[in-house]
Amino acid sequence: MRTARPTPGKATPQLKLTPLMAAAEPRVDEFLQAIIESKATLMRWMPWCHADYGVPDVQRWFAAAEQMWSSKTAFPMLIRSKEGGMLLGGVGLHDVLLYGKREAEIGYWVRASARSQGVASTAVRAIAAFAFNELNLARVSIRIRLDNTSSRRAAERANASFEGVARHGIVHGDARLDAAQYSLLPADLARPWQA
Ligand SMILES: CC(C)(COP(=O)(O)OP(=O)(O)OC[C@H]1O[C@@H](n2cnc3c(N)ncnc32)[C@H](O)[C@@H]1OP(=O)(O)O)[C@@H](O)C(=O)NCCC(=O)NCCS
Repeated sequence: MRTARPTPGKATPQLKLTPLMAAAEPRVDEFLQAIIESKATLMRWMPWCHADYGVPDVQRWFAAAEQMWSSKTAFPMLIRSKEGGMLLGGVGLHDVLLYGKREAEIGYWVRASARSQGVASTAVRAIAAFAFNELNLARVSIRIRLDNTSSRRAAERANASFEGVARHGIVHGDARLDAAQYSLLPADLARPWQA
C-alpha cells in the first residue's frame, strides 16, 4: 500500500491494526472504556451497542472474534495508535467471500475522543490493503446508513467510490435500512489521497 499523502497542515494519523485474537492479548477493561466513552453515538449507529454494554458483552465479542479468525468468516481488528498503542477503535472485514466473488464488507467505529482526525479513513485503507494483499480479495465495500454523514465522509476520505443506494442493505436489529454503498478496488489504494 502507498503511504498516505496528508493535507498540508494536517497530520495523517499513524495507526497499527492488530487482529482481535487472544494471541494479541486484548484487554477487556481498555476496550470497555473506549465503548463507554463513545456509547451515545455507537448506540445510534451500531446495533451491537446498548445502554448496559459491559464486561460480559466484551468477553462474548472477544470470544466470537477469535472464532471468526479461526474459521476465516470475518477478520475483526483493533485500531491502535502506532506510538503508545492507545486503543482508538475497531475495524473489520465481514461477509467475507474468500473464493468466487472474492469480496468483503468493512465495518468500523472510532472512540469519541479520537474522531475527526482521519482515524477511520486511514484504518479503512489499511484493512482494504490487508484484504487485497493477504486475502487476495478483488473488492471491498462499505454500507453506511444514509444519514450517517460522519461515516460517509470517512469512506469518501478513504477514496472509496459511492456506488449508489443498496435498498434494505443494512440489518439493524429487526429492521432493514437503506444503505449508501461505497467500494474500494486495489487500484484505488494506488491513487493519491489525503487523510
Ligand atoms: C463514523 C466514525 C467511524 C468516523 O470516525 P473518524 O475517525 O472521526 O472519521 P475520519 O476522521 O476518518 O473522517 C470523518 C470526519 O473527520 C473529518 N476529518 C478527517 N480527517 C480530518 C483532519 N485531519 N482534520 C479535521 N477533520 C478531519 C472529516 O471531514 C469528517 O468530519 P465529520 O465527522 O465532522 O463529518 C465515527 O464517528 C464513529 O465511530 N461513529 C459511530 C460508529 C459508526 O457510525 N460507524 C460506522 C458505521 S457504517
